[in-house]
Amino acid sequence: MDIGGSGIKGAPVDLSTGELTSGRHRVATPKPATPDAAIDAVRMVVDHHGWDRPLGVTVPGVVIGGVVLTAANIDSAWIGLDAKSLMTDRLELPVTVLNDADAAGIAEVRFGDHDASHGVVLLLTFGTGIGSALINNGVLVPNTEFGHLEFKGGMAEEYAAGRLVKRDNMEIGWWAERVNHFLQHMDLILSPRIVIVGGGVSKRFEEFRDQLNTRAIVVPARLRNNAGIVGAAMAAATEELT
Ligand code: BGC
Repeated sequence: MDIGGSGIKGAPVDLSTGELTSGRHRVATPKPATPDAAIDAVRMVVDHHGWDRPLGVTVPGVVIGGVVLTAANIDSAWIGLDAKSLMTDRLELPVTVLNDADAAGIAEVRFGDHDASHGVVLLLTFGTGIGSALINNGVLVPNTEFGHLEFKGGMAEEYAAGRLVKRDNMEIGWWAERVNHFLQHMDLILSPRIVIVGGGVSKRFEEFRDQLNTRAIVVPARLRNNAGIVGAAMAAATEELT
């Protein structure tokens, strides 16, 4: 299950292949996306699939031990909430909760066919904010928040989020210049071997790949919109990330 700013999406996942075993079901994210309202929406997706097994759920914030610690782009009522316990009680299923970009990162590394199983790999999702997942030799360092680095006088995600193109109609070339600056900064401080670019705007990767001049190899995410769902399922199956 993937709780995003506009939709809450879920599907059963075959963890031997990373494929969804039936079509994903989406309901609109309630406004405001309070925990109660979001959990009701999660329940609709669970019921749609008749799901009664372990459930992985992503949220767009820092999650430690099932507790959500930050909420930059969701309702602030999530901050401090033991989302894992609350969802486990309400849904009567074993629930694992993790950061959305972390979920996408582990899924891309495992199933994305990027030669990303060794070395330092950075996944960045360019959407409403900038999410990050840092993975070294296949092991995730959870809850990195590189989108919240101070950069160019503000926060990196204010400077280069995908929303600037999608909602604010910034020309893709202008935006790509900014992404290039940010990726060069990531080169400097992390020296990733591969950077995987995700988020809705990654569909347009071919339009801006030539503008990216980085030491790291930059590749577009392969699992597209399903990466969060697949990573959530991986976390639910292992429970070792949170
Ligand atoms: C949040 C991250 C999240 C990212 C993408 C950021 O604003 O702080 O936790 O991964 O947005 O949703």
